[in-house]
Amino acid sequence: MDFGMKNRLSRIFKPKTGKTVMLAVDHGYFQGPTTGLRNLRATVTPLIPIADCLFITRGMLRTSVDPRSDVSICLRVSGGPSILGELSNEDITTSIEEAIRLNASGVGMSIYVGASNEDRTISNLGRLINEAERYGMPVLAVTAVGKEMGRDARYLGLACRIAAEMGAHFVKTYYCEEFYKVVEGCPVPIVMAGGKKIPEIDALKMTENAIKEGASGVDMGRNIFQSDYPVEMIKAVKAVVHKGATAEEAFEIYLKK
Ligand code: 5RP
Repeated sequence: MDFGMKNRLSRIFKPKTGKTVMLAVDHGYFQGPTTGLRNLRATVTPLIPIADCLFITRGMLRTSVDPRSDVSICLRVSGGPSILGELSNEDITTSIEEAIRLNASGVGMSIYVGASNEDRTISNLGRLINEAERYGMPVLAVTAVGKEMGRDARYLGLACRIAAEMGAHFVKTYYCEEFYKVVEGCPVPIVMAGGKKIPEIDALKMTENAIKEGASGVDMGRNIFQSDYPVEMIKAVKAVVHKGATAEEAFEIYLKK
């Protein structure tokens, strides 16, 4: 791995702990103005100083984030369908040149294992990695769940392993029972997506479990920005990820709202 790749990865995974708190705010790329992100700038500005990395599209980065912010960027570079269409019908929408121009520390795209376009999304991942590696740009593979697929260790393990086999530098997936099995089968770092909004204590418990079972951090969205107290929530998540706080200890941080 060359200097550029390692240096970019160290902007995402903090060298002190080897972990990351990524704030996912890319949801609008297929959902439109999602609850909590209708005014993305207003929601995200107070969270930026706490997050290690923002997972965001180029359009929202350009329009809604202060370029002087000291937060690393992982750029979502895939898209196409909306929630009204076939979600798996994604392609790569943003070039590596653009990612470099925007000073991204990584790029991310979804693969749809088990869905109708799994082959194209997986080969697109391979192509993106071929290009990104020429510039030392890390690639995050987002393992999306097809409507009919269960979120169990067998399915998520399959999806994460395929992403790693294609050469993804890190992988995002959901938490599940026996999550450690997903981690075991995936030789690159895994970050946990939060999924639908659940009570804060439950989201913190899920984070604690994921970290204990080998996750290298989170790429969490709704459980932070849809919380009534997003700043306190991201601080609490950060305590679990970087300081090894238990969910109960972290919940105390959340309660300091
Ligand atoms: C959608 C994504 C989102 O970034 C991901 O779902 C994380 O957000 P949340 O924690 O809200 O699930 O990649 O494909």
